Amino acid sequence: MTPDLLEEGERRAKVYRERKLTGRTYSGGRAAGFGRPATAGEVDVTHGRILYLEDVSVSFDGFKAIDKLSLDIAPGELRCIIGPNGAGKTTMMDIITGKTRPDTGTVFFGSTIDLLRYTEPEIAQMGIGRKFQKPTVFERLTVFENLELALKTDKGVRPSMFFRLDTGQSDRLAEVLHTIHLAESVSRFAGTLSHGQKQWLEIGMLLMQDPKLLLLDEPVAGMTDEETVRTAELFLQLKGKHSLMVVEHDMSFIQSISEIVTVLSEGSVLAQGTLEQVQNDERVIEVYLGR
Ligand SMILES: Nc1ncnc2c1ncn2[C@@H]1O[C@H](COP(=O)(O)OP(=O)(O)OP(=O)(O)O)[C@@H](O)[C@H]1O
Ligand SMILES: [Mg+2]
Repeated sequence: MTPDLLEEGERRAKVYRERKLTGRTYSGGRAAGFGRPATAGEVDVTHGRILYLEDVSVSFDGFKAIDKLSLDIAPGELRCIIGPNGAGKTTMMDIITGKTRPDTGTVFFGSTIDLLRYTEPEIAQMGIGRKFQKPTVFERLTVFENLELALKTDKGVRPSMFFRLDTGQSDRLAEVLHTIHLAESVSRFAGTLSHGQKQWLEIGMLLMQDPKLLLLDEPVAGMTDEETVRTAELFLQLKGKHSLMVVEHDMSFIQSISEIVTVLSEGSVLAQGTLEQVQNDERVIEVYLGR
Protein backbone atom coordinates (compact mmCIF):
# COMPACT_ATOMS: atom_id res chain seq x y z
CA MET A 1 0.00 0.00 0.00
CA THR A 2 1.30 3.45 -0.85
CA PRO A 3 1.64 6.12 1.88
CA ASP A 4 -1.09 8.31 0.35
CA LEU A 5 -3.50 5.39 0.48
CA LEU A 6 -2.66 4.76 4.10
CA GLU A 7 -3.26 8.41 4.82
CA GLU A 8 -6.60 8.32 2.99
CA GLY A 9 -7.60 5.23 4.95
CA GLU A 10 -6.78 7.00 8.21
CA ARG A 11 -8.74 10.07 7.14
CA ARG A 12 -11.80 8.00 6.27
CA ALA A 13 -11.55 6.03 9.47
CA LYS A 14 -11.58 9.33 11.38
CA VAL A 15 -14.65 10.54 9.49
CA TYR A 16 -16.31 7.24 10.31
CA ARG A 17 -15.52 7.50 14.03
CA GLU A 18 -16.95 11.02 14.12
CA ARG A 19 -20.09 9.92 12.30
CA LYS A 20 -20.52 7.08 14.73
CA LEU A 21 -20.18 9.44 17.68
CA THR A 22 -22.63 11.88 16.13
CA GLY A 23 -25.07 9.02 15.64
CA ARG A 24 -24.81 8.06 19.27
CA THR A 25 -25.25 11.60 20.50
CA TYR A 26 -28.27 12.54 18.43
CA SER A 27 -30.10 9.41 17.47
CA GLY A 28 -28.96 6.97 20.11
CA GLY A 29 -27.55 4.48 17.65
CA ARG A 30 -27.48 3.18 14.15
CA ALA A 31 -29.24 5.47 11.68
CA ALA A 32 -31.97 3.55 9.91
CA GLY A 33 -32.81 3.46 6.24
CA PHE A 34 -31.29 3.43 2.83
CA GLY A 35 -29.33 6.63 3.17
CA ARG A 36 -27.22 5.58 6.09
CA PRO A 37 -23.51 5.23 5.47
CA ALA A 38 -22.27 1.84 4.34
CA THR A 39 -19.92 1.93 7.29
CA ALA A 40 -22.68 1.39 9.85
CA GLY A 41 -23.66 -2.05 11.06
CA GLU A 42 -21.63 -5.03 12.13
CA VAL A 43 -18.66 -4.61 9.81
CA ASP A 44 -15.77 -3.13 11.74
CA VAL A 45 -14.16 -0.54 9.50
CA THR A 46 -12.38 1.43 12.20
CA HIS A 47 -9.10 0.56 10.52
CA GLY A 48 -10.29 2.36 7.41
CA ARG A 49 -10.78 -0.71 5.25
CA ILE A 50 -14.00 -2.50 4.28
CA LEU A 51 -12.30 -5.12 2.13
CA TYR A 52 -8.86 -6.51 2.56
CA LEU A 53 -7.12 -9.16 0.47
CA GLU A 54 -3.59 -10.25 1.18
CA ASP A 55 -1.39 -12.69 -0.72
CA VAL A 56 -4.35 -14.49 -2.26
CA SER A 57 -3.58 -17.22 -4.78
CA VAL A 58 -5.69 -19.75 -6.64
CA SER A 59 -4.74 -22.22 -9.35
CA PHE A 60 -6.94 -24.07 -11.79
CA ASP A 61 -5.24 -27.23 -13.07
CA GLY A 62 -1.83 -25.77 -12.31
CA PHE A 63 -2.61 -22.38 -13.91
CA LYS A 64 -2.31 -19.50 -11.45
CA ALA A 65 -5.43 -17.42 -12.11
CA ILE A 66 -4.78 -15.33 -8.98
CA ASP A 67 -1.19 -14.94 -7.88
CA LYS A 68 -0.35 -13.39 -4.50
CA LEU A 69 -3.02 -10.73 -4.95
CA SER A 70 -3.13 -8.00 -2.30
CA LEU A 71 -5.69 -5.22 -2.47
CA ASP A 72 -7.87 -3.23 -0.11
CA ILE A 73 -10.77 -0.82 -0.30
CA ALA A 74 -11.89 1.99 1.98
CA PRO A 75 -15.47 2.31 3.20
CA GLY A 76 -17.54 4.36 0.78
CA GLU A 77 -14.90 4.12 -1.91
CA LEU A 78 -15.65 3.53 -5.60
CA ARG A 79 -12.75 1.40 -6.80
CA CYS A 80 -12.28 0.67 -10.47
CA ILE A 81 -10.53 -2.49 -11.59
CA ILE A 82 -9.18 -2.77 -15.11
CA GLY A 83 -6.92 -5.24 -16.84
CA PRO A 84 -6.65 -7.56 -19.82
CA ASN A 85 -8.91 -10.55 -20.47
CA GLY A 86 -7.95 -13.41 -18.22
CA ALA A 87 -6.24 -11.14 -15.67
CA GLY A 88 -8.32 -12.65 -12.88
CA LYS A 89 -10.85 -9.85 -12.28
CA THR A 90 -13.91 -12.08 -12.23
CA THR A 91 -12.04 -14.77 -10.31
CA MET A 92 -11.18 -12.17 -7.66
CA MET A 93 -14.91 -11.43 -7.28
CA ASP A 94 -15.59 -15.17 -7.10
CA ILE A 95 -13.16 -15.36 -4.18
CA ILE A 96 -14.60 -12.37 -2.32
CA THR A 97 -18.14 -13.72 -2.65
CA GLY A 98 -17.24 -17.27 -1.59
CA LYS A 99 -17.88 -18.84 -4.99
CA THR A 100 -14.25 -19.89 -5.32
CA ARG A 101 -11.95 -20.80 -2.42
CA PRO A 102 -8.38 -19.55 -2.74
CA ASP A 103 -5.52 -21.98 -2.16
CA THR A 104 -3.75 -19.51 0.13
CA GLY A 105 -4.17 -15.97 1.41
CA THR A 106 -6.40 -13.80 3.55
CA VAL A 107 -9.70 -12.15 2.69
CA PHE A 108 -11.35 -9.91 5.29
CA PHE A 109 -14.57 -7.92 5.32
CA GLY A 110 -13.81 -5.06 7.67
CA SER A 111 -11.13 -5.92 10.18
CA THR A 112 -12.89 -8.79 11.92
CA ILE A 113 -14.83 -10.92 9.41
CA ASP A 114 -12.72 -13.63 7.80
CA LEU A 115 -14.66 -14.23 4.57
CA LEU A 116 -12.92 -17.54 3.91
CA ARG A 117 -14.90 -19.03 6.78
CA TYR A 118 -18.28 -18.34 5.21
CA THR A 119 -20.41 -19.74 2.41
CA GLU A 120 -21.61 -17.81 -0.62
CA PRO A 121 -25.15 -17.20 0.78
CA GLU A 122 -23.75 -16.17 4.16
CA ILE A 123 -21.45 -13.65 2.51
CA ALA A 124 -24.35 -12.19 0.52
CA GLN A 125 -26.37 -11.99 3.73
CA MET A 126 -23.55 -10.10 5.44
CA GLY A 127 -23.88 -7.29 2.93
CA ILE A 128 -21.71 -8.09 -0.09
CA GLY A 129 -23.87 -7.77 -3.20
CA ARG A 130 -22.70 -8.95 -6.58
CA LYS A 131 -23.81 -8.04 -10.05
CA PHE A 132 -22.81 -10.46 -12.80
CA GLN A 133 -22.43 -9.23 -16.35
CA LYS A 134 -25.68 -10.65 -17.69
CA PRO A 135 -28.82 -9.09 -16.20
CA THR A 136 -30.76 -11.58 -14.14
CA VAL A 137 -34.16 -10.09 -13.40
CA PHE A 138 -37.52 -11.86 -13.31
CA GLU A 139 -38.83 -10.95 -16.76
CA ARG A 140 -42.43 -11.94 -16.06
CA LEU A 141 -42.69 -9.82 -12.94
CA THR A 142 -43.09 -6.06 -12.86
CA VAL A 143 -40.33 -3.70 -11.83
CA PHE A 144 -42.10 -3.24 -8.49
CA GLU A 145 -42.43 -6.99 -7.91
CA ASN A 146 -38.77 -7.56 -8.73
CA LEU A 147 -37.70 -5.02 -6.14
CA GLU A 148 -40.18 -6.30 -3.58
CA LEU A 149 -38.88 -9.82 -4.07
CA ALA A 150 -35.35 -8.68 -3.40
CA LEU A 151 -36.18 -7.39 0.07
CA LYS A 152 -34.64 -9.16 2.98
CA THR A 153 -37.62 -10.80 4.62
CA ASP A 154 -37.79 -12.25 8.02
CA LYS A 155 -38.72 -15.64 6.63
CA GLY A 156 -39.17 -17.54 9.87
CA VAL A 157 -41.43 -14.93 11.39
CA ARG A 158 -43.45 -13.69 8.45
CA PRO A 159 -44.77 -16.19 5.92
CA SER A 160 -44.15 -14.71 2.49
CA MET A 161 -47.78 -14.96 1.33
CA PHE A 162 -48.78 -12.51 4.03
CA PHE A 163 -45.78 -10.36 3.40
CA ARG A 164 -46.59 -6.67 3.22
CA LEU A 165 -44.12 -3.85 2.95
CA ASP A 166 -43.86 -1.77 6.08
CA THR A 167 -43.41 1.98 5.81
CA GLY A 168 -39.63 1.80 5.93
CA GLN A 169 -39.57 -0.81 3.20
CA SER A 170 -42.01 1.14 1.01
CA ASP A 171 -39.92 4.25 1.43
CA ARG A 172 -36.80 2.36 0.50
CA LEU A 173 -38.47 0.85 -2.55
CA ALA A 174 -39.54 4.31 -3.69
CA GLU A 175 -36.05 5.66 -3.12
CA VAL A 176 -34.42 2.80 -5.01
CA LEU A 177 -36.87 3.21 -7.90
CA HIS A 178 -35.90 6.83 -8.14
CA THR A 179 -32.17 6.08 -7.86
CA ILE A 180 -32.25 3.54 -10.70
CA HIS A 181 -34.34 5.83 -12.92
CA LEU A 182 -37.27 3.42 -13.10
CA ALA A 183 -39.94 5.30 -11.14
CA GLU A 184 -41.94 5.82 -14.32
CA SER A 185 -41.71 2.14 -15.22
CA VAL A 186 -42.79 0.66 -11.90
CA SER A 187 -45.68 -1.36 -13.38
CA ARG A 188 -43.88 -2.54 -16.49
CA PHE A 189 -42.90 -6.16 -16.87
CA ALA A 190 -39.14 -6.46 -16.52
CA GLY A 191 -39.04 -8.41 -19.78
CA THR A 192 -40.10 -5.28 -21.67
CA LEU A 193 -37.24 -3.12 -20.34
CA SER A 194 -34.17 -2.22 -22.40
CA HIS A 195 -30.90 -4.00 -21.64
CA GLY A 196 -29.66 -0.97 -19.68
CA GLN A 197 -32.87 -0.72 -17.67
CA LYS A 198 -32.64 -4.40 -16.78
CA GLN A 199 -29.11 -3.79 -15.53
CA TRP A 200 -30.38 -0.90 -13.38
CA LEU A 201 -33.23 -3.01 -12.07
CA GLU A 202 -30.80 -5.69 -11.01
CA ILE A 203 -28.66 -3.09 -9.28
CA GLY A 204 -31.87 -1.88 -7.63
CA MET A 205 -32.57 -5.40 -6.41
CA LEU A 206 -29.14 -5.46 -4.82
CA LEU A 207 -29.77 -2.05 -3.27
CA MET A 208 -32.99 -3.28 -1.68
CA GLN A 209 -30.79 -5.54 0.44
CA ASP A 210 -28.76 -2.53 1.51
CA PRO A 211 -25.34 -4.00 0.72
CA LYS A 212 -22.29 -2.51 2.33
CA LEU A 213 -20.10 -3.56 -0.55
CA LEU A 214 -21.21 -3.91 -4.17
CA LEU A 215 -19.18 -5.83 -6.72
CA LEU A 216 -20.09 -4.98 -10.31
CA ASP A 217 -18.61 -6.98 -13.16
CA GLU A 218 -18.69 -5.10 -16.49
CA PRO A 219 -21.92 -3.25 -15.67
CA VAL A 220 -22.05 -1.12 -18.83
CA ALA A 221 -21.22 -3.84 -21.37
CA GLY A 222 -23.90 -3.73 -24.07
CA MET A 223 -25.38 -0.43 -22.90
CA THR A 224 -26.04 2.52 -25.19
CA ASP A 225 -23.90 5.64 -24.69
CA GLU A 226 -26.76 7.37 -22.93
CA GLU A 227 -27.36 4.43 -20.59
CA THR A 228 -23.63 4.33 -19.85
CA VAL A 229 -23.65 8.01 -18.84
CA ARG A 230 -26.66 7.45 -16.58
CA THR A 231 -24.96 4.45 -15.01
CA ALA A 232 -21.92 6.59 -14.24
CA GLU A 233 -24.21 9.09 -12.50
CA LEU A 234 -25.84 6.25 -10.59
CA PHE A 235 -22.52 4.91 -9.32
CA LEU A 236 -21.36 8.36 -8.28
CA GLN A 237 -24.59 8.66 -6.31
CA LEU A 238 -24.04 5.29 -4.62
CA LYS A 239 -20.47 5.82 -3.52
CA GLY A 240 -20.16 7.03 0.03
CA LYS A 241 -23.36 5.26 1.00
CA HIS A 242 -21.94 1.96 -0.24
CA SER A 243 -18.48 0.76 -1.16
CA LEU A 244 -18.20 -0.24 -4.79
CA MET A 245 -15.79 -2.36 -6.77
CA VAL A 246 -16.35 -1.92 -10.49
CA VAL A 247 -14.68 -4.01 -13.18
CA GLU A 248 -14.91 -2.48 -16.65
CA HIS A 249 -13.15 -2.39 -20.01
CA ASP A 250 -14.94 0.80 -21.11
CA MET A 251 -12.30 3.45 -20.45
CA SER A 252 -14.50 6.48 -20.97
CA PHE A 253 -16.86 5.07 -18.35
CA ILE A 254 -13.91 4.47 -16.01
CA GLN A 255 -12.77 8.02 -16.66
CA SER A 256 -16.13 9.42 -15.63
CA ILE A 257 -16.32 7.58 -12.28
CA SER A 258 -12.80 6.76 -11.19
CA GLU A 259 -10.89 7.78 -8.10
CA ILE A 260 -8.33 5.04 -7.58
CA VAL A 261 -7.88 2.56 -10.41
CA THR A 262 -6.28 -0.84 -9.84
CA VAL A 263 -4.79 -2.64 -12.81
CA LEU A 264 -4.78 -6.42 -12.58
CA SER A 265 -2.56 -8.54 -14.76
CA GLU A 266 -1.76 -12.24 -14.48
CA GLY A 267 -3.60 -12.52 -11.21
CA SER A 268 -1.99 -9.69 -9.27
CA VAL A 269 -1.85 -5.91 -9.03
CA LEU A 270 0.31 -4.45 -11.77
CA ALA A 271 -0.33 -0.78 -10.99
CA GLN A 272 -2.58 1.43 -8.93
CA GLY A 273 -3.32 5.14 -8.85
CA THR A 274 -5.41 7.72 -10.64
CA LEU A 275 -6.51 6.80 -14.15
CA GLU A 276 -3.98 9.27 -15.51
CA GLN A 277 -1.19 7.69 -13.50
CA VAL A 278 -1.94 4.14 -14.61
CA GLN A 279 -2.52 5.21 -18.20
CA ASN A 280 0.98 6.63 -18.26
CA ASP A 281 2.54 3.59 -16.65
CA GLU A 282 4.74 1.79 -19.20
CA ARG A 283 3.88 -1.65 -17.85
CA VAL A 284 0.15 -0.95 -18.12
CA ILE A 285 0.55 0.34 -21.67
CA GLU A 286 2.49 -2.80 -22.48
CA VAL A 287 -0.01 -5.37 -21.19
CA TYR A 288 -3.33 -3.61 -21.57
CA LEU A 289 -3.78 -0.23 -23.09
CA GLY A 290 -1.54 -0.71 -26.11
CA ARG A 291 0.69 1.85 -27.76
N1 LIG B 1 -13.38 -22.20 -12.65
C1 LIG B 1 -12.32 -22.10 -13.45
N2 LIG B 1 -11.68 -23.18 -13.91
C2 LIG B 1 -10.61 -23.10 -14.72
N3 LIG B 1 -10.06 -21.93 -15.11
C3 LIG B 1 -10.66 -20.80 -14.69
C4 LIG B 1 -11.82 -20.82 -13.84
N4 LIG B 1 -12.18 -19.53 -13.58
C5 LIG B 1 -11.29 -18.77 -14.23
N5 LIG B 1 -10.38 -19.51 -14.88
C6 LIG B 1 -9.25 -19.00 -15.68
O1 LIG B 1 -8.61 -18.02 -14.89
C7 LIG B 1 -8.16 -16.92 -15.68
C8 LIG B 1 -8.74 -15.64 -15.16
O2 LIG B 1 -10.10 -15.57 -15.60
P1 LIG B 1 -11.09 -14.38 -15.20
O3 LIG B 1 -12.40 -14.77 -15.75
O4 LIG B 1 -11.00 -14.13 -13.76
O5 LIG B 1 -10.46 -13.17 -16.01
P2 LIG B 1 -11.04 -11.69 -16.18
O6 LIG B 1 -9.97 -10.77 -15.74
O7 LIG B 1 -12.35 -11.59 -15.53
O8 LIG B 1 -11.18 -11.59 -17.77
P3 LIG B 1 -12.27 -10.83 -18.68
O9 LIG B 1 -11.82 -9.40 -18.77
O10 LIG B 1 -12.17 -11.53 -19.99
O11 LIG B 1 -13.61 -11.01 -18.04
C9 LIG B 1 -8.55 -17.26 -17.11
O12 LIG B 1 -7.43 -17.82 -17.77
C10 LIG B 1 -9.65 -18.27 -16.95
O13 LIG B 1 -9.71 -19.13 -18.05
MG1 LIG C 1 -14.30 -11.26 -16.22
